Amino acid sequence: MTVPLPVKWIENKRAHTLIDSPSVRAAFPPGTARLARSFHRQIPGYKMSPLKALTNLAEMLNVEGIWVKDESARLTLNSFKVLGGSYAIYQLVKQRLGMEHLELPFSELMSEDVRRRLGDITFAAATDGNHGRGVAWAARSLGYKAIIYVHKFTSEARIRAIENSGAEVRVVDGTYDDAVRQVWLDAQANGWQVISDTSWEGYQDIPRWVMQGYSTMLSEAQEQLAAQGVTKPTHIFVQAGVGALAASAIGFYAELFGPKRPISVVVEPDSAACLFESARAGDGQPHSFPGDLDTMMAGLACGEPSPIAWDILWDCANMFLSCPEYVAAKGMRVYGMPLAGDPFIVSGESGAVTLGALMFILERPELAELRDMLQLRPDSHILLINSEGNTDPNHFRRVVWDGAEQVPSQYREYY
Ligand SMILES: Cc1ncc(COP(=O)(O)O)c(C=O)c1O
Repeated sequence: MTVPLPVKWIENKRAHTLIDSPSVRAAFPPGTARLARSFHRQIPGYKMSPLKALTNLAEMLNVEGIWVKDESARLTLNSFKVLGGSYAIYQLVKQRLGMEHLELPFSELMSEDVRRRLGDITFAAATDGNHGRGVAWAARSLGYKAIIYVHKFTSEARIRAIENSGAEVRVVDGTYDDAVRQVWLDAQANGWQVISDTSWEGYQDIPRWVMQGYSTMLSEAQEQLAAQGVTKPTHIFVQAGVGALAASAIGFYAELFGPKRPISVVVEPDSAACLFESARAGDGQPHSFPGDLDTMMAGLACGEPSPIAWDILWDCANMFLSCPEYVAAKGMRVYGMPLAGDPFIVSGESGAVTLGALMFILERPELAELRDMLQLRPDSHILLINSEGNTDPNHFRRVVWDGAEQVPSQYREYY
């Protein structure tokens, strides 16, 4: 049996030279992150998520800093995703009230008056777990109904978590992308309002607001890094499904630092690598990844890029990686059993793949060329996002306790 390399890569040479991206300007006009953050700050229970330093791991891997924005406990929902769905609903409500360019304080958003003016709304979304949970939670918090579509591989635990956040769940016999199409058709027939994290022709405002909502997390991280004396990371590794999170993180830094932004790396599972394939095609267009997208990285199991996210990544992402399952499993175990003195981090399958990929790149001789291309050096400060905690407890135990998805023997490191 052939053992896949821990990382395959496609360089996006275009991103090295492009100085100005119209796509970034359209999605992240100056002040976007401030607006998103001032909304999230008003949500009861909001706290900045922690930025954790893996100081001893960084020393062992011969880089200056590994910083982890830990979203495993965001608003008690175990993932960053709620930042996007809640902000999109907020912007949509403002639009329906004719208040696009005005502030709407959270207390007014929750008021009887606003609810009366809006009438009954049913929010609907397709999800591979976390986005749907965030939309369900935001809808319930504001007193509205939510119907969430999941695909047939969604685990029972994820379905229960969405239901516990107040939504009705419907299972579609297909992939995440089939669920996206089905919820749209049913929403048209039933008058529901779709809150999608992915975009398509004619449907871009809401997914743009979703991406903008994620920028709260980056704005917090920048502030936390500055407090540690780090002006900006030299590198950012970010995991991707449809690419909205990656576009938000990379777009945030492109808006803030222009051509001096951090070197950015987009990481996907090798069985659902639609952005990697789009980069490989090299024609600037998003391309689908075929098959049933069978990966334990459930949040990344997407076969079609979000076009508005892709446009930003095509302009600004430096490198696209695709990784087998064992890379995410290694990341989960390292987060859960850190070196002495480093903080312990609960990281689910989609959350951990970037740490796994970074470690293989820094350690393995087979990946020395990639390490050089990325300019990973002793003075590098790398920012990672632990995008979810233990969102599928049974599977989490299978990996962390029972050692599922072992690292193949030729790629193991022993110290
Ligand atoms: C935990 C987690 N990480 C990362 C992602 C990827 O986000 P995107 O689909 O915007 O690329 C998701 C998406 O659902 C997710 O749930």
